Amino acid sequence: MRGREVLIGVSGGIAAYKTAALVSRLVQAGAGVNVVMTRAARHLVGPKTFQALTGRPVATALFGRGAHPHIELAAAAELLCVAPATANLLAKAAWGLADDLLSTLLLSFSGPILIAPAMNTVMWQKAAVQRNVAQLRADGFVIIEPEEGYLSCGMRGPGRMAEPEKIFQEIASHLERLKSTA
Ligand SMILES: Cc1cc2nc3c(=O)[nH]c(=O)nc-3n(C[C@H](O)[C@H](O)[C@H](O)COP(=O)(O)O)c2cc1C
Repeated sequence: MRGREVLIGVSGGIAAYKTAALVSRLVQAGAGVNVVMTRAARHLVGPKTFQALTGRPVATALFGRGAHPHIELAAAAELLCVAPATANLLAKAAWGLADDLLSTLLLSFSGPILIAPAMNTVMWQKAAVQRNVAQLRADGFVIIEPEEGYLSCGMRGPGRMAEPEKIFQEIASHLERLKSTA
Protein backbone atom coordinates (compact mmCIF):
# COMPACT_ATOMS: atom_id res chain seq x y z
CA MET A 1 0.00 0.00 0.00
CA ARG A 2 2.98 2.35 0.59
CA GLY A 3 3.15 5.00 -2.13
CA ARG A 4 -0.07 3.91 -3.83
CA GLU A 5 -2.58 6.61 -4.78
CA VAL A 6 -6.23 6.13 -3.96
CA LEU A 7 -9.21 8.40 -4.64
CA ILE A 8 -12.12 8.10 -2.21
CA GLY A 9 -15.55 9.46 -3.16
CA VAL A 10 -17.98 10.19 -0.36
CA SER A 11 -21.66 10.66 -1.21
CA GLY A 12 -24.45 11.71 1.11
CA GLY A 13 -25.19 8.63 3.19
CA ILE A 14 -25.12 8.54 6.97
CA ALA A 15 -22.34 5.93 6.74
CA ALA A 16 -20.01 8.77 5.61
CA TYR A 17 -18.72 8.92 9.19
CA LYS A 18 -17.39 5.36 8.79
CA THR A 19 -15.43 6.43 5.71
CA ALA A 20 -13.20 8.44 8.03
CA ALA A 21 -12.04 5.12 9.54
CA LEU A 22 -11.41 3.73 6.04
CA VAL A 23 -9.38 6.79 5.02
CA SER A 24 -7.37 6.64 8.25
CA ARG A 25 -6.64 2.95 7.63
CA LEU A 26 -5.41 3.69 4.08
CA VAL A 27 -3.19 6.55 5.26
CA GLN A 28 -1.75 4.42 8.08
CA ALA A 29 -0.96 1.72 5.52
CA GLY A 30 1.08 4.28 3.55
CA ALA A 31 -1.32 5.23 0.75
CA GLY A 32 -1.74 8.75 -0.56
CA VAL A 33 -5.45 9.54 -0.40
CA ASN A 34 -7.49 12.27 -2.09
CA VAL A 35 -11.09 12.64 -0.95
CA VAL A 36 -13.97 14.00 -3.05
CA MET A 37 -17.25 14.81 -1.31
CA THR A 38 -20.69 15.57 -2.69
CA ARG A 39 -22.74 18.46 -1.33
CA ALA A 40 -25.01 16.02 0.57
CA ALA A 41 -21.99 14.26 2.10
CA ARG A 42 -20.78 17.61 3.44
CA HIS A 43 -24.03 17.97 5.38
CA LEU A 44 -23.20 14.74 7.21
CA VAL A 45 -19.41 14.94 7.78
CA GLY A 46 -17.16 18.00 7.61
CA PRO A 47 -14.45 18.07 4.94
CA LYS A 48 -11.99 19.10 7.67
CA THR A 49 -12.18 15.56 9.05
CA PHE A 50 -10.88 14.09 5.80
CA GLN A 51 -8.44 16.96 5.30
CA ALA A 52 -6.93 16.26 8.72
CA LEU A 53 -6.75 12.50 8.07
CA THR A 54 -5.18 12.77 4.61
CA GLY A 55 -3.12 15.95 5.03
CA ARG A 56 -4.59 17.06 1.70
CA PRO A 57 -7.39 19.45 0.73
CA VAL A 58 -10.76 17.82 0.09
CA ALA A 59 -12.18 18.31 -3.39
CA THR A 60 -15.81 19.38 -3.48
CA ALA A 61 -16.39 21.41 -6.63
CA LEU A 62 -16.09 20.90 -10.34
CA PHE A 63 -15.62 24.63 -10.83
CA GLY A 64 -13.31 25.25 -7.91
CA ARG A 65 -9.65 24.59 -7.27
CA GLY A 66 -7.56 23.57 -10.28
CA ALA A 67 -8.26 24.04 -13.98
CA HIS A 68 -9.75 20.57 -14.57
CA PRO A 69 -10.20 18.89 -11.19
CA HIS A 70 -12.04 15.89 -12.72
CA ILE A 71 -9.05 15.22 -14.99
CA GLU A 72 -6.27 16.03 -12.52
CA LEU A 73 -7.70 13.93 -9.67
CA ALA A 74 -8.39 11.04 -12.06
CA ALA A 75 -4.86 11.16 -13.47
CA ALA A 76 -3.30 11.08 -9.99
CA ALA A 77 -5.18 7.98 -8.78
CA GLU A 78 -4.74 4.25 -9.37
CA LEU A 79 -8.12 3.27 -7.97
CA LEU A 80 -11.39 5.05 -7.15
CA CYS A 81 -13.65 3.83 -4.35
CA VAL A 82 -17.02 5.42 -3.54
CA ALA A 83 -18.04 4.81 0.07
CA PRO A 84 -20.78 5.29 0.92
CA ALA A 85 -22.57 5.24 -2.43
CA THR A 86 -26.11 6.63 -2.18
CA ALA A 87 -29.07 5.44 -4.25
CA ASN A 88 -28.69 8.74 -6.12
CA LEU A 89 -25.00 8.11 -6.85
CA LEU A 90 -25.77 4.58 -8.10
CA ALA A 91 -28.42 5.97 -10.45
CA LYS A 92 -26.13 8.66 -11.80
CA ALA A 93 -23.30 6.16 -12.33
CA ALA A 94 -25.59 3.66 -14.05
CA TRP A 95 -26.86 6.32 -16.44
CA GLY A 96 -23.55 8.12 -16.96
CA LEU A 97 -24.77 11.41 -15.53
CA ALA A 98 -22.06 13.90 -14.62
CA ASP A 99 -23.50 16.92 -12.82
CA ASP A 100 -20.96 17.29 -10.00
CA LEU A 101 -17.30 16.49 -9.35
CA LEU A 102 -17.76 12.93 -8.07
CA SER A 103 -20.15 11.80 -10.80
CA THR A 104 -17.93 13.41 -13.46
CA LEU A 105 -14.92 11.56 -12.01
CA LEU A 106 -16.78 8.27 -12.46
CA LEU A 107 -16.63 8.99 -16.18
CA SER A 108 -13.17 10.57 -16.39
CA PHE A 109 -11.37 7.91 -14.33
CA SER A 110 -10.05 4.97 -16.35
CA GLY A 111 -8.91 2.61 -13.54
CA PRO A 112 -10.90 0.24 -11.34
CA ILE A 113 -13.93 1.72 -9.57
CA LEU A 114 -15.18 0.10 -6.36
CA ILE A 115 -18.59 1.08 -5.05
CA ALA A 116 -19.87 0.45 -1.52
CA PRO A 117 -23.62 1.18 -1.46
CA ALA A 118 -25.31 2.14 1.80
CA MET A 119 -28.94 2.93 2.38
CA ASN A 120 -32.13 2.06 4.20
CA THR A 121 -33.47 -1.46 3.44
CA VAL A 122 -36.55 -0.18 1.63
CA MET A 123 -34.36 1.93 -0.66
CA TRP A 124 -31.90 -0.93 -1.23
CA GLN A 125 -34.69 -3.33 -2.23
CA LYS A 126 -36.34 -0.92 -4.69
CA ALA A 127 -36.45 -2.27 -8.22
CA ALA A 128 -34.78 0.87 -9.59
CA VAL A 129 -31.84 0.55 -7.19
CA GLN A 130 -31.37 -3.16 -7.93
CA ARG A 131 -31.61 -2.45 -11.65
CA ASN A 132 -28.91 0.22 -11.34
CA VAL A 133 -26.64 -2.11 -9.32
CA ALA A 134 -27.04 -4.84 -11.97
CA GLN A 135 -26.19 -2.30 -14.69
CA LEU A 136 -23.10 -1.14 -12.79
CA ARG A 137 -21.88 -4.74 -12.41
CA ALA A 138 -22.43 -5.32 -16.14
CA ASP A 139 -20.46 -2.13 -16.84
CA GLY A 140 -17.46 -3.42 -14.85
CA PHE A 141 -17.86 -1.56 -11.56
CA VAL A 142 -16.94 -3.62 -8.50
CA ILE A 143 -19.85 -3.60 -6.04
CA ILE A 144 -18.91 -4.14 -2.40
CA GLU A 145 -22.18 -5.63 -1.15
CA PRO A 146 -23.88 -3.91 1.76
CA GLU A 147 -24.40 -6.03 4.86
CA GLU A 148 -27.42 -6.85 6.99
CA GLY A 149 -27.65 -5.25 10.38
CA TYR A 150 -28.67 -2.18 12.31
CA LEU A 151 -29.43 0.88 10.19
CA SER A 152 -29.38 4.44 11.50
CA CYS A 153 -33.12 4.79 10.78
CA GLY A 154 -33.68 2.17 13.49
CA MET A 155 -34.50 -0.70 11.10
CA ARG A 156 -32.54 -3.92 10.77
CA GLY A 157 -31.96 -5.42 7.33
CA PRO A 158 -29.76 -5.28 4.27
CA GLY A 159 -28.36 -1.89 3.24
CA ARG A 160 -25.70 -1.21 5.87
CA MET A 161 -22.38 -0.20 4.29
CA ALA A 162 -19.70 -2.91 4.39
CA GLU A 163 -17.32 -2.41 7.29
CA PRO A 164 -14.31 -0.10 6.63
CA GLU A 165 -11.90 -3.04 7.11
CA LYS A 166 -13.73 -5.06 4.42
CA ILE A 167 -13.55 -2.11 2.01
CA PHE A 168 -9.87 -1.60 2.88
CA GLN A 169 -9.14 -5.26 2.05
CA GLU A 170 -10.98 -4.94 -1.30
CA ILE A 171 -8.95 -1.85 -2.17
CA ALA A 172 -5.70 -3.58 -1.13
CA SER A 173 -6.42 -6.66 -3.25
CA HIS A 174 -7.32 -4.58 -6.33
CA LEU A 175 -4.14 -2.51 -5.94
CA GLU A 176 -2.14 -5.73 -5.64
CA ARG A 177 -3.75 -7.03 -8.86
CA LEU A 178 -2.89 -3.78 -10.66
CA LYS A 179 0.74 -4.13 -9.59
CA SER A 180 0.99 -7.69 -10.88
CA THR A 181 -0.48 -6.74 -14.30
CA ALA A 182 1.74 -3.61 -14.65
C1 LIG B 1 -29.59 12.26 7.54
C2 LIG B 1 -29.65 11.71 6.14
C3 LIG B 1 -29.10 10.49 5.88
C4 LIG B 1 -29.15 9.94 4.60
N1 LIG B 1 -28.61 8.72 4.38
C5 LIG B 1 -28.69 8.18 3.15
C6 LIG B 1 -28.15 6.88 2.92
O1 LIG B 1 -27.61 6.22 3.81
N2 LIG B 1 -28.23 6.37 1.67
C7 LIG B 1 -28.82 7.06 0.63
O2 LIG B 1 -28.88 6.53 -0.48
N3 LIG B 1 -29.35 8.30 0.84
C8 LIG B 1 -29.29 8.87 2.07
N4 LIG B 1 -29.80 10.11 2.27
C9 LIG B 1 -30.38 10.85 1.13
C10 LIG B 1 -29.28 11.48 0.26
O3 LIG B 1 -28.46 12.34 1.05
C11 LIG B 1 -29.92 12.25 -0.91
O4 LIG B 1 -30.55 11.33 -1.78
C12 LIG B 1 -28.91 13.09 -1.67
O5 LIG B 1 -29.56 13.73 -2.75
C13 LIG B 1 -27.74 12.26 -2.18
O6 LIG B 1 -26.87 13.11 -2.91
P1 LIG B 1 -25.45 12.56 -3.42
O7 LIG B 1 -25.67 11.24 -4.05
O8 LIG B 1 -25.04 13.61 -4.42
O9 LIG B 1 -24.53 12.57 -2.26
C14 LIG B 1 -29.76 10.67 3.55
C15 LIG B 1 -30.32 11.91 3.82
C16 LIG B 1 -30.28 12.42 5.11
C17 LIG B 1 -30.93 13.76 5.36
